[in-house]
Amino acid sequence: MKKQILGLSIATAFALPVAAQQSVEVLHWWTSGSEAAALSVLKDNLEKQGVKWNDMPVAGGGGEAAMTAVRARVTSGNPPTAVQMMGFDLSDWAKQGVLSDLNELAMKQGWNKVVPAAVQRFSKFNGKWIAVPVNLHSTNWIWANKEVLTKAGVMTEPMTWDEFIAAAEKVQKAGFIAIAHGGQPWQDATVFDGVALATGGPDYYRKAFVELDPKALNSPTTEKVFERMAQLRRFVDKDFSGRDWNVASGMVISGKAGFQMMGDWAKGEFINAKKIPGKDFLCFRTPGSQGSVSFNTDQFAMFKVGGDKGAAQIKLASAIMDPAFQTAFNVVKGSVPARTDVPDTAFDDCGKKGMKDLAEASKKNTLVGSIGHGHAVPASIKNAFYDVITRHFNGQIDSKKAVAEMLSAAKN
Ligand code: BGC
Repeated sequence: MKKQILGLSIATAFALPVAAQQSVEVLHWWTSGSEAAALSVLKDNLEKQGVKWNDMPVAGGGGEAAMTAVRARVTSGNPPTAVQMMGFDLSDWAKQGVLSDLNELAMKQGWNKVVPAAVQRFSKFNGKWIAVPVNLHSTNWIWANKEVLTKAGVMTEPMTWDEFIAAAEKVQKAGFIAIAHGGQPWQDATVFDGVALATGGPDYYRKAFVELDPKALNSPTTEKVFERMAQLRRFVDKDFSGRDWNVASGMVISGKAGFQMMGDWAKGEFINAKKIPGKDFLCFRTPGSQGSVSFNTDQFAMFKVGGDKGAAQIKLASAIMDPAFQTAFNVVKGSVPARTDVPDTAFDDCGKKGMKDLAEASKKNTLVGSIGHGHAVPASIKNAFYDVITRHFNGQIDSKKAVAEMLSAAKN
């Protein structure tokens, strides 16, 4: 007997007449200029196939507000067709039995062979595909305005933490904002990803923030991570509180600020502003973390919706996994493909570096899940970590207290 997927065979899904117009309702948090541009690539692709796109944006980087909206929709028995989702949130929903089984499509299209293992770990639940990965982002990046650095006399890329601090000091002395930052818990935690990786290396990072080993968490290294976070605090401007990440990117793009420490979705904003890597802006890993990558991957979870909505889900999933789409989308988004068989030719220099770093980190086992973006620990602990990191960044607790609080946050 032919296996059914989402209540329909794949053949039937593609054969359904367009007259009974298929549609998808997609809930996501891609609301910045580059995010919307990247999403349009997917939307246009679906619309060409006769699938109507009902957009359900829920603003808020990191997706916290979006996840609250999803909970409300599922609780009221009206889930969206597809939801942008990350990391442990995927398995949390899969556990509830509300996500569709995408295995037949995955087997037919050979997803097992082309999706990196680190991504699959979140796309599958109990061995079954429950989500479709659209990209692979990483968080241990710094974005810099080249002209600002030149004016400040920073002529070489900082290779060590101390060199970075010295460079930030020069930028500040030259009258610029050294670090453009948005004081929102998820952004503070994104910076923390890179600082933790740069300070303790991938083994420490994994032990402390993925395995939650009390000895690694409650260690002088963690205190040093917080000390470095406090150092960074001196370089942000007085209006940083609550600022959106893309506004912070805009400050670097326009030459108001020297650096932004942010995931590579920030690169999307530079590209969207027609800036060229190497010429207008620089991308480098948080100094001390080159060789390691802290990653997150955006995936689309398909909720069990049944009927002809199931057919549209199959089209959406197939469109996302198409290698040409993965290129077209990710060159705009700033991320790299969630497939290992996509060439880097269409990518800019930062994208090429991202792909090379990723391949190297997968091989050397220095690829770790982002703490800030839900790929290290489940949401309950992630949120408790956010709280400590943010209170410390705002000077409410010192580094010693922050270490102790991280230890108790890990028990959430
Ligand atoms: C997502 C990115 C998104 C960023 C800011 C991250 O959690 O993975 O796709 O661009 O948040 O909204």
